[in-house]
Amino acid sequence: MSDLFSKFDDVIEQRETLLATGIIDPFNLVMERVESPTVAICNGKRTILLGTYNYMGMTFDPDVIAAGKQALDEYGSGTTGSRVLNGTYAGHRAVEEALKDFYAMDHAMVFSTGYQANLGVISTLAGKDDYVILDIDSHASIYDGCALGNAQIIPFRHNDVDALEKRLKRVPDGAGKLVVLEGVYSMLGDVAPLKEMVAVSKANGAMVLVDEAHSMGFIGEHGRGVAEAQGVIDDVDFIIGTFSKSVGTVGGFCVSNHPKFEILRLVCRPYVFTASLPPSVVATAATSIRKLMQASDKREHLWGNSKRLHAGLKQLGFTLGTDEPQAAIIAVIMPDLATGAAMWEALLNEGLYVNLARPPATPAGMTLLRCSLCSEHSSEQVGEILGMFTAAGRATGCIA
Ligand SMILES: Cc1ncc(COP(=O)(O)O)c(C=O)c1O
Repeated sequence: MSDLFSKFDDVIEQRETLLATGIIDPFNLVMERVESPTVAICNGKRTILLGTYNYMGMTFDPDVIAAGKQALDEYGSGTTGSRVLNGTYAGHRAVEEALKDFYAMDHAMVFSTGYQANLGVISTLAGKDDYVILDIDSHASIYDGCALGNAQIIPFRHNDVDALEKRLKRVPDGAGKLVVLEGVYSMLGDVAPLKEMVAVSKANGAMVLVDEAHSMGFIGEHGRGVAEAQGVIDDVDFIIGTFSKSVGTVGGFCVSNHPKFEILRLVCRPYVFTASLPPSVVATAATSIRKLMQASDKREHLWGNSKRLHAGLKQLGFTLGTDEPQAAIIAVIMPDLATGAAMWEALLNEGLYVNLARPPATPAGMTLLRCSLCSEHSSEQVGEILGMFTAAGRATGCIA
């Protein structure tokens, strides 16, 4: 019998080699208790959370929690059905209304995750004879959407406007073209030059989809993302987002002004052939989204945190993913996986959780310690975090 697992032997060996050093498994950490958006108990120890996507700190917002509890009481624990059958409750409509108001757009469609939103929208729009022109560092859900739809994929160099233009010009005349971009790229925390990229895409007759997973709530005057901040939101055909980051729960969505958008509800398989989100989840999401519309103070505080942490880490001598802070993600570049894992463990022992990220999630084979700030991190916590990086960096030889 052939062993279908043999294709994973390299990964198994890499994992075993790492764990043989006696290190805590960085990919198997348990949050034993979560006290707030910024503090959890891990291995029995108070740990500051700097590796969540809880950018706007909504997970413990009292109104959000109350809305979830009320929906549990009134509608039960789950819908047990697809959105197109028994799975559309008043709450699903309400969260779609909240999204339409948040983005000031005509249509909103909610999926069970952000992964499924990309999978569904991209695979449904871009079929076998269509072309998806995408940044090479796109999220896995974007690539999987292309694969599911069987579209022709043309990747271009990360954030390179000229490369995008050249690829667009290579698409055969008359073919369907979808350019897929992200607002913030989650590994290095860098922002896309959407203004130029959207202009080039439109000039070459392509529709544009922007995944704003890591910018919603935080970037742009109303928190609508990088497309808003760069003044091109009206030229973007589809915005994809998630509830699992700034919104603070789980779920995904697409918003659009396209007049035929609603037909997607009947033809998009990852929307049709899966159960809808539980009523408590959509109730928390709707409340959170409406509160994010009034969150300019939180946005300002989060920018302050991001700038301070970026400057502090740079001053300590760490190599960062961006020269200037561009988002709530600050990536610390490690020389290799072993050093990255040692630094990750040293930080955890200090009482700080960050994400250890490695290929294939990261670009160019990099190992990263990804720090994601939260609007609920206090100034004192940012100070504590810098102290922990100093101690762990020195103990592991990452800084002098
Ligand atoms: C850019 C991007 N798109 C989509 C997703 C998927 O979101 P979700 O967690 O809701 O499935 C992620 C998740 O990390 C992401 O980074």
